[in-house]
Amino acid sequence: MKDSATKTNFDSSPLGELSVFETEDGSYSLKSSHFQEAFHSSIGAITEAKKKFLFPSQIERFEARKQIKVLDVCLGLGYNSACLIEALISTSIGLEWWGLEIDRRPLKLALNSQKFKSIWSSSVLEILESILKSNAWERENSKGTMLWGDARQKIKLIPEDLTFDLILFDAFSPSHCPELWSEEFLNYIANKLMPGGRLMTYCRAAAVRKSLMRAGLQLSSLIPEPKSEKDWSAGTLAIRPSTNWNIPLKGPNWKPLSIKEEEHLLTRAAIPYRDPSGKDTSKQILARRQKEQEQCKLESTNDWFRRWGGEQSN
Ligand SMILES: C[S@@+](CC[C@H](N)C(=O)[O-])C[C@H]1O[C@@H](n2cnc3c(N)ncnc32)[C@H](O)[C@@H]1O
Repeated sequence: MKDSATKTNFDSSPLGELSVFETEDGSYSLKSSHFQEAFHSSIGAITEAKKKFLFPSQIERFEARKQIKVLDVCLGLGYNSACLIEALISTSIGLEWWGLEIDRRPLKLALNSQKFKSIWSSSVLEILESILKSNAWERENSKGTMLWGDARQKIKLIPEDLTFDLILFDAFSPSHCPELWSEEFLNYIANKLMPGGRLMTYCRAAAVRKSLMRAGLQLSSLIPEPKSEKDWSAGTLAIRPSTNWNIPLKGPNWKPLSIKEEEHLLTRAAIPYRDPSGKDTSKQILARRQKEQEQCKLESTNDWFRRWGGEQSN
């Protein structure tokens, strides 16, 4: 089903044409013709926002804190931040929020959808409206700044000494949007986590996990939905180690990487996406990686895939 608000020719825009994407939990989502990908998996936007971003954040950890700092990379329709802010509003924890996103249209379309608006409190809707109209918001002990544009460049506008408790990382998949999963960008992002800070992503790709590890983060695996028995991971939780605190091996919706996942990191799939200038096109980044994969001596991902019973790999 196409959303009538999106029928104009958007070939020149970063997302191309946007159409409505129906998900299993009934939440409103979109699909981009340029990236040829939906904004959320078929399980649904609200389910993903809770299970992959909110639960592993464990905001109850921050009860004694006046304020936490959160970065949303790829705001899209705003589900991940909206879920987190909704949960924080019922506590006394304040928030310093920063958002990165290349295109305003997903949030604009979401705020025109009754289905989307019916999920959120008026406070959260006011914040989302302010992000769209004023690129900033403020209330009681919280404030936010939205940076529209290519996240690779816009992230440099965040003060250098500002680090985050939580990073919600939700770019399109590495094969469709490699520019946001490059070794260089992930390293920059990882350095924006304070000790003990957590990055959450739905992505379980070996290349991404290896880049996050090289950036000094400790990885865990997000637990798949019970009905997807064959699935081996629903994403990654990456934590910056802290000298005065031990990283828990298990937590709400995460577990340690399995042997299968550790071995995935030793295959060709673990060759990173490289973007040294931070300005390359996805085509250039993918071609560079393919060349490196052809020249490397690592185990083929297909062999790993067969050894583990032929389940889907990245
Ligand atoms: C999977 S969607 C994000 C979904 C979002 N978190 C939500 O809850 O609706 C990926 C988003 O990345 C954005 N994007 C793609 N390339 C980008 C870039 N270079 N810089 C910033 N945002 C980008 C797209 O516009 C899209 O909104």
